[in-house]
Amino acid sequence: MTEKITNDHINYFPSIKGNNDELLNVLIKTSELLCKWYSDTNRVSPLPFNKRFRVSYPQKNGTDVKILLDEIEDLVYSSFCPSHPGSLAHLDPPPLTISIIGDLIASSLNNNLLAEELSPSISKLENDLCKWLSKKIGFDMNSGGIAASGGTLNNLNALVTAKHYSGLTFNNETVLIISEDAHVSFKKCAKILGIEDRNICVVNTDKNGSMNIPSFIKLINSIIRSGKKIFAVVATFGTTFRGALDPINEIGNLCNDKNIWFHIDASIGGIFLVADKSFDNITDINISNANSITINPQKLLGIAKTSSLLLVSDINTLKNTFHTGLPYIDSPDDVINRGELGVQGSRPAEIIKLWLGLRFLGMEGIENILNESLLKKSIFIEKLDENKFEIFSGPLHIISFLPKKMNTDQSNKWTLEARNSLMERNYMISRPLYKGRNYLRIVFGNYNTTTQHISDLADFLNNFNV
Ligand SMILES: Cc1ncc(COP(=O)(O)O)c(C=O)c1O
Repeated sequence: MTEKITNDHINYFPSIKGNNDELLNVLIKTSELLCKWYSDTNRVSPLPFNKRFRVSYPQKNGTDVKILLDEIEDLVYSSFCPSHPGSLAHLDPPPLTISIIGDLIASSLNNNLLAEELSPSISKLENDLCKWLSKKIGFDMNSGGIAASGGTLNNLNALVTAKHYSGLTFNNETVLIISEDAHVSFKKCAKILGIEDRNICVVNTDKNGSMNIPSFIKLINSIIRSGKKIFAVVATFGTTFRGALDPINEIGNLCNDKNIWFHIDASIGGIFLVADKSFDNITDINISNANSITINPQKLLGIAKTSSLLLVSDINTLKNTFHTGLPYIDSPDDVINRGELGVQGSRPAEIIKLWLGLRFLGMEGIENILNESLLKKSIFIEKLDENKFEIFSGPLHIISFLPKKMNTDQSNKWTLEARNSLMERNYMISRPLYKGRNYLRIVFGNYNTTTQHISDLADFLNNFNV
């Protein structure tokens, strides 16, 4: 044996002996760079004009950290900037200071939520925080939850559980009910679950974008009469297009009567249910008939991506659905490894940034962020010319709009030109396609946007003609 182990002279990892000057130096340099990027935010656009970033590839020899820091700078300055006050296009707010630290801690610890022995304190943190949040939104003692990397995955976790609980896991002729404004993730989930389009039953929405209850009742009764089994009904608490809310109480009552799994996709609106304060037309609901609910604190609170939870009224439903045993993990019988509560196996400690974010904000800070986002939307609606625009907006902080009486071609042209002109003025708003026409959409989830920005935007739009 002539080869020698090299770990005594090459420092690839944080040192376990010395004082880690190299790690400290990189952390300081990177922190300085990121802080500068934040401070420069106002001078750049939400989308970078300077696209310096070029992908460099691994060479035979490793690259010096000094060079990597230059490459990191190019990457950073060529990135989308959610903190820019004009970043109003999507559900991607600036990250809270403390949630940035959360990701740093998570990757430094490199623990794994797969198993308790790989993340003893963080498994406890995730378990207890999910339970606390479940009770906060109105579930009882049996409740709990799991984090997953995004709302799509949690909607999937919910539907897999729903199928298991209906005893229909291996039956692909079962029906999923959603509303026509439900998020596209359900189409993906259905594909994964082998549910064909003809078994996704879509309920129309009313003029407010909420699931139409008479249509829902008619649909559910006709499916039952046809002899098909429904494995889940999904309500949306905050639609992507306009922040509309489905009637949770009515849907929940009906699901309860018929013994059908009731999932709420509250990826957008769920965070309002966590607040102590009640919000008019939002929080006056009863979720006790729901079996599962997806909540994405990444979408409005500023917990860095990804931060999404699936909360369930009975934690045993997740345990029974996803239990496989982990033959390579030797743990006592009373330990529940959190890799057996959802689709994901190895999982990062995303819960740390949520925990720190909630602690850092406190209930007052959470309510402040939620209040401000609703207030900004109201100010914008007041300023937008109601004679010119058709406005679509539910109770949440999202608004879509279009000049009245535009056909498909006109809507396509007007929205494209308006979006591009706004981009030149450093405002980034989105252009969703809804029922065949393009709209403009603004998401008021950016804490840095001021009343002046809102006035500028409304003035521009009121006067913009193609
Ligand atoms: C209502 C709703 N549900 C689910 C999702 C999917 O969440 P994610 O992008 O975190 O997978 C979104 C995303 O915007 C959404 O708006």
